Amino acid sequence: MATIREVPGKVSRFERIGAHTHVKGLGLDENLNAIKVKDGMVGQEKAREAAGLVVKIIREGKLSGKCIILAGPPGTGKTAIAVGVSRELGANVPFIQMSGSEIYSSERKKTEVLIEAIRKCIGVEVHEMRKVYEGEVTNVDIVTAPHPYNPYQKVPESIRLTLKTTKQEKTIEAGETIAQQIIQQNISEGNVVQIDAETGRVVNLGLSLESAKGKKYDVDTRLKVPRPDGEVLKEREFVYMLTVADIDELNARSRAGGGFLSMFFGATETKEIDTEIRSAVDEQVKKLVDEGKGFIHPGVLFIDDSHLLDLEAFSFLGRAMESELVLIIILATNRGVARIRGTDVKSPLGFPLDLIDRAVIIATHEYDQESIKEILRIRSEEEKVQINKEALEKLTEVGTKSSLRYSVQLLSLAAQNAKAMKREKVDVEDVERVDKLFMDVGEAAEHLKKYEEKMMLH
Ligand SMILES: Nc1ncnc2c1ncn2[C@@H]1O[C@H](COP(=O)(O)OP(=O)(O)OP(=O)(O)O)[C@@H](O)[C@H]1O
Ligand SMILES: [Mg+2]
Repeated sequence: MATIREVPGKVSRFERIGAHTHVKGLGLDENLNAIKVKDGMVGQEKAREAAGLVVKIIREGKLSGKCIILAGPPGTGKTAIAVGVSRELGANVPFIQMSGSEIYSSERKKTEVLIEAIRKCIGVEVHEMRKVYEGEVTNVDIVTAPHPYNPYQKVPESIRLTLKTTKQEKTIEAGETIAQQIIQQNISEGNVVQIDAETGRVVNLGLSLESAKGKKYDVDTRLKVPRPDGEVLKEREFVYMLTVADIDELNARSRAGGGFLSMFFGATETKEIDTEIRSAVDEQVKKLVDEGKGFIHPGVLFIDDSHLLDLEAFSFLGRAMESELVLIIILATNRGVARIRGTDVKSPLGFPLDLIDRAVIIATHEYDQESIKEILRIRSEEEKVQINKEALEKLTEVGTKSSLRYSVQLLSLAAQNAKAMKREKVDVEDVERVDKLFMDVGEAAEHLKKYEEKMMLH
């Protein structure tokens, strides 16, 4: 007798634990007040509440063309708050995250990198009416012909398809490309299909509930859909979410053409999209909006470590904020007074004064002991590390003395150490051991200073 084995229901998923995966939102209540520990966020209440207001205004589409600066010492949660903002905004608002260093590429101009990032932040919701044939397939007839090079093989030449809706039944005839799609997608009687009248694209929507097959196979895993209503040939509204950068790319690709020679000359590979295409796309988008077929969703460009930007980039961003392009720029920096890159001028945050003047600043502050402990506890849950009370206390102590980041790092290392010692839970011993084996910034600086001469000479 055959043995039957049940497959466990939960399929394990590849999970990656990054530095901010525990951040699920900003942790605010409905009045936008921060709850001390919520959504993976701990403390830093003022900054979180400020960020919450920003999210609200972005959602209402009122804060376009604005700049927000997140300023504070290293490891105080600036990046974490920006991640929280993106989580709060949801999937429909574009949120692009980049580092200031990304503008320095040997292949592309600085402004090019920024323009592309900006255009990725502008979402366009396109509504389009298209003519489609839609219905449940009640009959398929495929006419085949001998293959031109191999007469023993048959290839589809045309197709006759009968489609049924609740209102009518209609037979259509189509050519080779539609026939091929029908065969590839394994479409037969009982399937509900949608065929674009203009392009001929075939979409298999599922199995009709009313069809014989739909009624018979209880265990069929295919999606079941009702038989479409109305006429077979009808106008349907399609809604797509695109970004302006997507539209640029589509245009660039269609202009470059997919000709035979392009395979050799790489014409379809566009490293930079020229300004001509971009302005054409701008016009296209404006037209869509004017005709009521397109809606703009302003997004967010978050530039982490933005003290790495230079004067040219800052002035470009300043201009972008004032142009018709609608987006919100969030800059994060951990510099106090620093030289603006590309100049000899020192300035607060390492930013030009006119930019600071135009922005609102959200400050982050160093954490107290309680918050550090709570963040470490959340991190241990996220990393699925079991840790006992004393070890957590010890790690908190280390975090208070050196930095939150250092103690977060030690947590993973201590967990590894516990594993090596065949312990289930992380113990004080593990924390102490890894703290001895590794150095924090202060210790490393001391160490290097001590050996400065020796290290420099050799
Ligand atoms: N309030 C918080 N709640 C929960 N986790 C936090 C909080 N603040 C920081 N963290 C976590 O602590 C670590 C360091 O914080 P983060 O990277 O956000 O600091 P930062 O201010 O961006 O530092 P830097 O200036 O060096 O970029 C991250 O893993 C972050 O997710
Ligand atoms: Mg950061």
